[in-house]
This record gives sequence, C-alpha cells and structure tokens, in this order.
Amino acid sequence: MYTQSFNVPDSPGLKAVPDTVPAENPELLSRFDARIEADGKIEPQDWMPEGYRKTLVRQISQHAHSEVVGMLPEGNWITRAPSLKRKAILIAKVQDEGGHGLYLYSAAETLGASRGDLIDALHSGRAKYSSIFNYPALNWADVGVIGGLVDGAAIMNQIPLCRCSYGPYARAMIRVCKEESFHQRQGYEALLVMMRGTAEQRAMVQDAVNRFWWKCLAMFGPPDKDSAHSEQAMRWGIKRISNDDLRQKFIDATVPQAKVLGVTLPDPDLKWNEERQHYDHGEIDWDEFWATVNGNGPCNRERLATRVKAHNDGQWVRDAAIAYSLKQQAKASKEAA
Ligand SMILES: [Fe+2]
Ligand SMILES: [Fe+2]
Repeated sequence: MYTQSFNVPDSPGLKAVPDTVPAENPELLSRFDARIEADGKIEPQDWMPEGYRKTLVRQISQHAHSEVVGMLPEGNWITRAPSLKRKAILIAKVQDEGGHGLYLYSAAETLGASRGDLIDALHSGRAKYSSIFNYPALNWADVGVIGGLVDGAAIMNQIPLCRCSYGPYARAMIRVCKEESFHQRQGYEALLVMMRGTAEQRAMVQDAVNRFWWKCLAMFGPPDKDSAHSEQAMRWGIKRISNDDLRQKFIDATVPQAKVLGVTLPDPDLKWNEERQHYDHGEIDWDEFWATVNGNGPCNRERLATRVKAHNDGQWVRDAAIAYSLKQQAKASKEAA
C-alpha cells in the first residue's frame, strides 16, 4: 500500500547507504548520468553507482515492509466486516497489499539484495516501514478511513514512482497504483454509506478522521528542509516530487472530498490561501512521528510480533518448496546421466 517518502534512515547497524560513496569508474558513471539526464531507465543488468543501488534497496525494501505490515490493521477486521460485500472487498484489498509486498521484494532482489536478509532486518526491528501502521484500527470507520485517506495518501506518493529511473520498481508501481486506486475508492464509498446512516455512524467516521488526519500528513515524510536523502534521490530520478509538495497535493485534493463526505478535518489552521492557490495547514507533530518510526508507537511491538509469528508459522511451506525443488533437480540430473 504505502509510503512515507521512503527516505527514512534505517537504524544503526543496517548500513544501507554508505556515508561516503567509493570512487566510481568515470566512464561508466558518465554513461549512467547521461541515461538519467535523458530520463531513460536503468535496468538490473546495467552498471549503476553503489549509492544509487543501496538507496533503491533501502527504499524498495522499506516500501515492501510497509505493504506487508500494512495488511495487519485491516486484516484484523476481515472476520468482523459488517456484510458479505464488505468482507469480500476487504479480503481482496488485504490480499492486494500482500501482492504489492511480493512485487517489491522481487524488485529489491533484482538489485542483488537477499530477501531473507531484508525480512530479517524487518523482524529484528532494524529496518523501517511506514509509521501509519503502528496505530490501531479501532472500529469499522477506521477501516474506511484507512482506505479513503491512508491509501489516498499512498497513491499521491506512489504515482510519481511509476516514473522512477529504476525500471523494475517503476513497472511494479504501475500495477500497484491501479490497485491502490480501488483501495481508495472502496474506503471512501464505505465512509459515504456510513455518513448517510445514523448519527452514531457519522460520529464514528468523524472520530476516525480526527485520529488519522495528522498521521496521514506525516506519511509524506519529514519537511523538505529536514529530509536527508531527498536531494540526491531527486537527482537520480528515484524521487520526482518533494515531500512537502506531495503533502500539499494531498491536502488540496482531500479538502473537497471531506466536504462532499460531510466531515471536518481537525486542523483550525486549514484555510484556502488565495495568493498561493493552495490550502495552508497547521504544524505536524514531528516528535510523535519520530517516536513511532523509532519503535515507540502504540502498536509497533504487536505488529512485529505478528509478522515474526506469521513468518515462523510459514517455515514448513518454504521447507516443502526447497525439498520439492531439490527432488526435481535430483530427478533431472539422474535423467541427464
Ligand atoms: Fe499497497
Ligand atoms: Fe492499498
């Protein structure tokens, strides 16, 4: 599903990006630079600077982790969906997120990363994922808001990644964005139905919006002035639009949607600025954001424990797949002999 600018440094010990990039072959480097300059794609077999490769491994793996951890808050609601229709939609959506994780781990593997190492970094708490999933989904309105707002913010973040300079990532994002669009619309539609229901249902939606609004704004990552890796990622064509600009686009698109829905966005400073032709907004609580990114949100421990258990419970599947593959290899070499 999701991104939060994907330039958040991982914890010490996971040195995805070196402090200094080693000297590169000038001829290969100038060929690479020319390709980037011409807005061409870099493919797995092409030479690329080590910093570019490591930045992509970190970004794509943080993205993959966000997809699979993102299955958890909504997955909890599959058994409690209010109708068969809502259950079928939610199952499809959560399954999509699992698929997004798989495409993205595969894209990271094309850069020479080992999936086992990436998953190990997630499970040991060294790798980051989108902080939004460290908050609980308390009721059915939260599920609608996660679709309508959280997936909405994710689409805003992910559309520019379809033009990322690294081919496998860009191509994976095209399909991901199509599915995200369905996620956003199903969430918005679920909220619309609730807003046309009882006063209690409307109050639930408003409460969910109040709790998630600021967290959605933080999904675009730290302000540009504090965003450590943004500039280089822009030069490399990995990132196309800055965190602050994407955040602004999301706010400008969401305010009219909130009006149609009939909810109030919980920011007294949210006002149309005629001069800028954009909405102004209040201050985001970055201390809370960093506390959550660094492992101290309300659900961080629970989310990781669930992922680790799911991985361990699935060990027999991996064992069976390896045993089958060894058996096939042995059969093939016996036949060849
Ligand atoms: Fe997704
Ligand atoms: Fe999604």
